[in-house]
Amino acid sequence: MIEDRTKLIHAFGALAELGSEVANKNSFQETIRTSLHLISGALAIMRGGVARYSRYGHELNMLAVRGLGDDFPLSLSLCLEDERQFIANGLNAIETSQAKVLPFFQVYDRSLESRKIELFVPLVVRDEIVGALFLGEKATSLPYTTYEKEIICAMGRHIGVAIAQRNLMAEIERHAEENRKLVDDMRTTYNDTVKAFATAIDCKDKYTEGHSVRVGKYSEIIATELEWGPQEVEGAAVAGYLHDVGKLTVERKIINAPYRINAKESAELNKHPGVGYEILLPIHHPYTNVPLAAKYHHERLDGRGYPDGLYDREIPYIAKLVNLADSFDAMTTDRPYKARRPAADVVDDLRRNAGKQFAPELVTAFLRGMLKELTGDNKEKRFRKLLGREYMEAEGIVPILRTALNEMTPTSPLTYINSEPQAEGPTIL
Ligand SMILES: [Fe+2]
Ligand SMILES: [Fe+2]
Repeated sequence: MIEDRTKLIHAFGALAELGSEVANKNSFQETIRTSLHLISGALAIMRGGVARYSRYGHELNMLAVRGLGDDFPLSLSLCLEDERQFIANGLNAIETSQAKVLPFFQVYDRSLESRKIELFVPLVVRDEIVGALFLGEKATSLPYTTYEKEIICAMGRHIGVAIAQRNLMAEIERHAEENRKLVDDMRTTYNDTVKAFATAIDCKDKYTEGHSVRVGKYSEIIATELEWGPQEVEGAAVAGYLHDVGKLTVERKIINAPYRINAKESAELNKHPGVGYEILLPIHHPYTNVPLAAKYHHERLDGRGYPDGLYDREIPYIAKLVNLADSFDAMTTDRPYKARRPAADVVDDLRRNAGKQFAPELVTAFLRGMLKELTGDNKEKRFRKLLGREYMEAEGIVPILRTALNEMTPTSPLTYINSEPQAEGPTIL
């Protein structure tokens, strides 16, 4: 009697331990190994194994074995009849000697008998087989008692839940992976479409061929230099590619005028930011602010831009970034009425206009990117590819860039003024 009580306490102790083992975030393999160890230890079982069921392969694959020897199969297949019977049986111990009618026990009779497997417990969780326990003879060689079988089934439930959880996690991971691939595919499609659009916009303007594509690339460079995250860099590139999409509705003869356009034509052309915004607004963009970049890419920090004459901090940041990329491309490409300006001249223009037209920190980032390429600190030939080697390697450009970078203040004076706290009442001097 006392011995029985001790065994009972021991077995329930093992059960509690198994419960916490499953609940803990240990490795799955470790949990299964421990569970076999606990069952064997609690009931003094000589050998056994825990298997996980693969419903795709219809087989039980051993996860942990103890004393089964090398010749015991590590993978045991189930036929549909076995599956059906095990599910009907539920999570209850089956005595192998009593179950010879089932195909499973006929097929594996020799292996089960030679290792003296007395109990087989299908781990059925929510009407699904998730695994099985194979338990050999006890050290005492006595048959399993009903109470021992109950303990085994209680432990089996814990193991079954651990396996079901693992299966669920694997399923979730698989879905997440599929989702990731889907999102990647969609992003690629979106980016390809954006580039196709940029090319279409550029086709309309024969003098500034490739303008949108280059502005996209310059925007990407600036965002990279600002150390934005990959998504934001991609977003900046898209904003650049699409900034002039509104030009699609402007008459070709105005865009391609080989002279300085008159006021009326200019008013027509100046509608393109607003039109671009309206074209882009209904589209769901994976990056924010693409429509705003189109709308405000001709605004200037000092309020002298268009269409709304916004001041510094009223202008969305992405629009300031695209404005710089756009202006840089305008200065560095030939126009019908104006040849491209020398690099030194352009750098000087950017420096002088930092704080007036351009956000100074954007100019700094841009010039720093240029300098890094020229000094070899950045091996990518981003600027050389867009501007040509000769243009980029013009004499004296490196010291000019260095001087410009040294002279520039990191923030706009306008930003500074705007950020001054507003006085609430009259100031008495
Ligand atoms: Fe524009
Ligand atoms: Fe532009």
